[in-house]
Amino acid sequence: MELKIAVLPGDGIGPEITNQSLKVLAAIEQKFNHKFTFTKGAIGADAMQNYGTPLPKETVDICYHSDAILYGACGDPKFATDPTAVMRPEQGILNLRRILGLHTNIRPIKTYNALLHCSTLKQEVIRGVDFVIFRELTGGIYYSPKEEYKENQKAMDICAYSPEEISRIAIPAFKAASERKKHLTLVDKSNVLATSKLWRQTVLEISKDFPEVELDFMYIDNAAMRLIQNPKEFDVILTENMFGDILSGQGAMIAGSIGLLASASIGDSAALFEPTHGSYPSAAGKNIANPLGSILSTAMLLEHFKLHQEASLIRQAIDLSINMNLCTQDLNPIDNYSTANVGNFICNYILEENTDLGSRENMTFGQSTII
Ligand code: IPM
Ligand code: MG
Repeated sequence: MELKIAVLPGDGIGPEITNQSLKVLAAIEQKFNHKFTFTKGAIGADAMQNYGTPLPKETVDICYHSDAILYGACGDPKFATDPTAVMRPEQGILNLRRILGLHTNIRPIKTYNALLHCSTLKQEVIRGVDFVIFRELTGGIYYSPKEEYKENQKAMDICAYSPEEISRIAIPAFKAASERKKHLTLVDKSNVLATSKLWRQTVLEISKDFPEVELDFMYIDNAAMRLIQNPKEFDVILTENMFGDILSGQGAMIAGSIGLLASASIGDSAALFEPTHGSYPSAAGKNIANPLGSILSTAMLLEHFKLHQEASLIRQAIDLSINMNLCTQDLNPIDNYSTANVGNFICNYILEENTDLGSRENMTFGQSTII
């Protein structure tokens, strides 16, 4: 298959984790005879410095001319301290989501048995967790009218949703549920919010087309509690933009590290793949950040194009690296591996399918053609 991929590494650890995904894609390309072409674009603080805007037109054009986008992270403490700043690095990704209409954000959360000790939650609570959050990504309070605070005046964010905005994410969420454990939970605040009432009505209507999927409703405050108390009860969580942001942050802590979480943001004619972590500025350039969130997002990219064998090889390599404790310091504080070496291990496995584990050193610094 030929794929044109836009690469937007962004800020902080963005470039180094995205580099691992590029190495993995090169290994997949070689192994399966695909042709991937990569075009880099600037975004975030990096773009502000070089173009004076967090999302240059050049970057948007690159995305328009690509089949998929691989994104790293946006955010820089230099711009975080002034709440009155007109421009912020995060506007790079927020504007890109809106311009490309990336309305359906899919964030899978599962635990690995070898990493149960990394979470602050009890192992019996999180063993076997496997759910996915469908977060609406281009509407709600994030994008509706705002009034900035000016002296002695109120600030305001409005939350608005239309039935169309709700349906276009609810339908794929139901489809996903019908292929999984057939259980969908709509998380809202319909005892208070008008938009939540519309979500309930719309989702209830759509559910009639999916009689095999059990639908339940949960208020956001209850969901926040249940997610910690018994995360195994969830299969597909469907929710609006802001609640999805919060719940996916909480989900990351169930998995043990935010560095593990991948996501896909899908629109009608564009698809972007991003780890859910931020730019982790204090780790930037140190070769210590966890690349697995980005590499798992790359697996989601391949699945989006129905390259299931390729994606499952990446997942096998990741499972093995975790089982062998070949992990970065967030998961393995004692004898950890660098960002690049975790990437090398995964590439080695893909190219050689080396199941002869040998010593950890041999596997990590094996004969890979990709360094
Ligand atoms: C996320 C992030 C973004 C969001 C930020 C960086 C704007 O927290 O993708 O979860 O709030 O959507
Ligand atoms: Mg977030």
